[in-house]
Amino acid sequence: MAKTTSDSATRRKNNMGNGDNLRTPLSRPLKIGALEAKNRFCIQPMECGNGDFKGRFTENTLKRYENLFRGGAGVIVMESVTLQYESRARENQLLLDMEDSDNRKMWEHFVKDMKTKYPEPVFIVQLNHSGELSDTAFSKRVCVKPRKEYGGELIDADYVDKTIKQYVEAARFLYDIGCDGVDLKFCHGYLGAQILRPYNDRVWKYGGSWEKRSRFAFDMCEKIRKAVNNPKFLIGAKVSVYEGIAGGQGHAGAGKEEINLSETFALCRGLEERGASFFIETLGNAETAGWELMCPNKNTGENVYKHMAMASNLKAGLKSETVVICSGLSLLAEGKYNENHQIPSVENSLFHWGNCCVGRGSFDMVALGRQSLADPFLPEKYLEGRESDIHWCWCCDGCGRLLAQQEPVKCIVYNK
Ligand SMILES: Cc1cc2nc3c(=O)[nH]c(=O)nc-3n(C[C@H](O)[C@H](O)[C@H](O)COP(=O)(O)O)c2cc1C
Repeated sequence: MAKTTSDSATRRKNNMGNGDNLRTPLSRPLKIGALEAKNRFCIQPMECGNGDFKGRFTENTLKRYENLFRGGAGVIVMESVTLQYESRARENQLLLDMEDSDNRKMWEHFVKDMKTKYPEPVFIVQLNHSGELSDTAFSKRVCVKPRKEYGGELIDADYVDKTIKQYVEAARFLYDIGCDGVDLKFCHGYLGAQILRPYNDRVWKYGGSWEKRSRFAFDMCEKIRKAVNNPKFLIGAKVSVYEGIAGGQGHAGAGKEEINLSETFALCRGLEERGASFFIETLGNAETAGWELMCPNKNTGENVYKHMAMASNLKAGLKSETVVICSGLSLLAEGKYNENHQIPSVENSLFHWGNCCVGRGSFDMVALGRQSLADPFLPEKYLEGRESDIHWCWCCDGCGRLLAQQEPVKCIVYNK
């Protein structure tokens, strides 16, 4: 009894409410591969275009990550990082350049600093190549099969072999400097998606049949696992379950809009067999056609439930120990934005659905994307019972517009 009183006194002193939230599914620890996340909140990779012109960290980059590390999430996935300067989507995208010793030192210092000050969060870096989404205003656009809207210089097998080598070397380097894992970006229409898509029906080493289109992802995963033969270094992927464009990932054929998830499942199972221990579910892509599927807004609220259903299907189709993280949930917030659904807001909030879905095992973690820009401290505030202090994302997509305009990204509501 005395212990309870003193515990609640400590909680009050620390402004921790009555501790109820600490007993909810979202607060439970989770095994990911050989590591443990302290709770079920995962910070999404959110490209913020706030490096300098050479892709180096700026004060804004460091401040943002410091806040995220302090914010209480179990897992932090660092934004899409390019491994080579010449083809990239954002002029100020963060760069990891294995050839540049100053760049390597910068990364080493950053990771050491964060991990020393904040050892708890599992820290994963998302690796990417933009392919046909590289911006021609400042870089070279390359493609696997030209599309009318994009075009670009056709790449060959040697180029892809070299790209795989870059990913493997980068993963090994990140392991050596103390990161906990890599998130391979096979989504949102970037190079990974471009190679995996049925639209890539050009017959070459990495195109045509599924066997060839999946070789990029499978070889990369196998080689990373071989280069880092330690289960404490996680390999995972963010996967567009379907893209919402003809011939996209999760569609039935090169020109087809019909959804067919068999390749998505084959991809995840194949990666799982090769050592992947987590998947971040996503939908859509970064193009206009797929944006609202990727980032549900107030007019497309039903897309949130598509994300939950797809994450739950993935979870059911993979090994029970494989961690599935659900995206596209920021719109849920306090449950007020989904007006087209006749559900009381309290039963339609991020915490309600997060606790329901994680509690019944539909998926393992909730990912925070736009919400993490609005409030990097949401996990801590929830765990301490301070929900009323949370700055809720409005899903106005102001952050997305800044990204599209090549401006440094921030929440335009709370960081004016
Ligand atoms: C400004 C902005 C930057 C993003 N950057 C990335 C990124 O670097 N990597 C990635 O996989 N997804 C990126 N996304 C997509 C998000 O990670 C996430 O999948 C999407 O915002 C939906 O989640 P939410 O509803 O929590 O925002 C970005 C989205 C936005 C709006």
